[in-house]
Amino acid sequence: MAETTETVLLVGGGGREHAIARSLAPDCDLYACASNRNPGIAALAAGFETVGERDADAIVDYAESVGADLAVIGPESALEAGVADALGAAGVYAFGPDADAARIETDKAFQRRFMRDNDVPGCPDFETFDDPEAAASFVADYDGDVAVKPVGLTGGKGVRVTGDQVTKAEAADYVRESDYDDWVVEERLVGEEFTVQAFVANGDVVTTPAIQDHKRAYEGDEGPNTGGMGSYSDTGRTLPFMTDDDYEAAVDVIEATVDALDGYTGVLYGQFMLGADGPKVVEFNARFGDPEAMNTLPVLETPFVDVLTAARDGDPLPDLSFADEATVCKYAVPAGYPTDPDAGARIEVDESSAGDALLFYASVDERDDGLYTTTSRSFAVVGRGDSIAAAERQAESALDAAGDGFHVRHDIGTADLVQRRIDHMAELRGE
Ligand code: AMP
Ligand code: GLY
Repeated sequence: MAETTETVLLVGGGGREHAIARSLAPDCDLYACASNRNPGIAALAAGFETVGERDADAIVDYAESVGADLAVIGPESALEAGVADALGAAGVYAFGPDADAARIETDKAFQRRFMRDNDVPGCPDFETFDDPEAAASFVADYDGDVAVKPVGLTGGKGVRVTGDQVTKAEAADYVRESDYDDWVVEERLVGEEFTVQAFVANGDVVTTPAIQDHKRAYEGDEGPNTGGMGSYSDTGRTLPFMTDDDYEAAVDVIEATVDALDGYTGVLYGQFMLGADGPKVVEFNARFGDPEAMNTLPVLETPFVDVLTAARDGDPLPDLSFADEATVCKYAVPAGYPTDPDAGARIEVDESSAGDALLFYASVDERDDGLYTTTSRSFAVVGRGDSIAAAERQAESALDAAGDGFHVRHDIGTADLVQRRIDHMAELRGE
């Protein structure tokens, strides 16, 4: 526990940031700012300011006006816009990388070249392009399936994978017809995805339990990619389809990346595809995952503010203690999300119906006359329990909190879907 009360500014107004606020609020004076007024964060914070996440000057002004000593930056858009740089220049310690280091997420071409140049393990075969026509021809000529990725931020919605979502001809057309100039084309990775997040500061790397997110919009992993429809974690550090060695291989990748980045501060998020030959890197994020933060932080028993103060003071990061609980997170999203979301709709969320589950508000906006949807995910429920099945039941019963008009992937964390993951890995491993 921190000995003095720190004043902490939280940047961002999604479900991830509501989970961060819940972790921080008991142990500090918390202030928050985001473009949407998130009622969950506003209720936990001493002050909430409506400010664009990329508006570094306004965020610095707010940090100074509330006397913040520390800042936690949730969204990648803020990192890309140099919010950590600006806060640092104003003397506020930001737990989040500067814009240059955040390129490990915000520039996928940089990220792949960085892995190759620094011999970071787990890098897929790839090429980078600054000409869509050249990228499209490469797709057609490549021997095997590919993933095509705009190099910049797309909210998780820019990637197309051949042999899965689209044909090679469709992927080539997508590259030609999109507005993006710069592309990464890489080998299609086949396997089961998992996430490992690490707290990083002063050269220390402290990793957290593995999580599986669900990117596709509809049940059975169908439909377009989203920012993530929900996620689960198990008791312990691994997931039912992976071994301790798989987890350790992912940790090795994160440690090698941090070594090569030299001076990175914040959360480094590795997303991995586990195949027969071990994990390969799908991507890095320069911040907590959303939804993954909602799995990790509710089971973190070490005060998060202790990580922040150790990072700022140049001390070793504390060893982290986690409750031995499984978690299942399910997002409720506006009808039509992600392609044609019903934004600006008035909604009702009855927090009291969530029961023992946690309810995290996400991209909703609280106005004088009620709560409104935006174009992104609305709120999430998180169940905890001594097994994934128990956590899933708790999450599912909490969904009564939602009125009509939401879409939920009810299959996340169910025994059937988890078993499919286990069977898929066994098949890939030839077991
Ligand atoms: P990203 O925006 O890089 O997170 O990618 C979004 C999603 O696309 C990932 O969660 C994967 O499901 C998929 N994806 C990205 N890269 C690859 C790849 N090389 N092979 C197969 N799937 C991929
Ligand atoms: N869960 C994926 C992301 O946060 O980008």
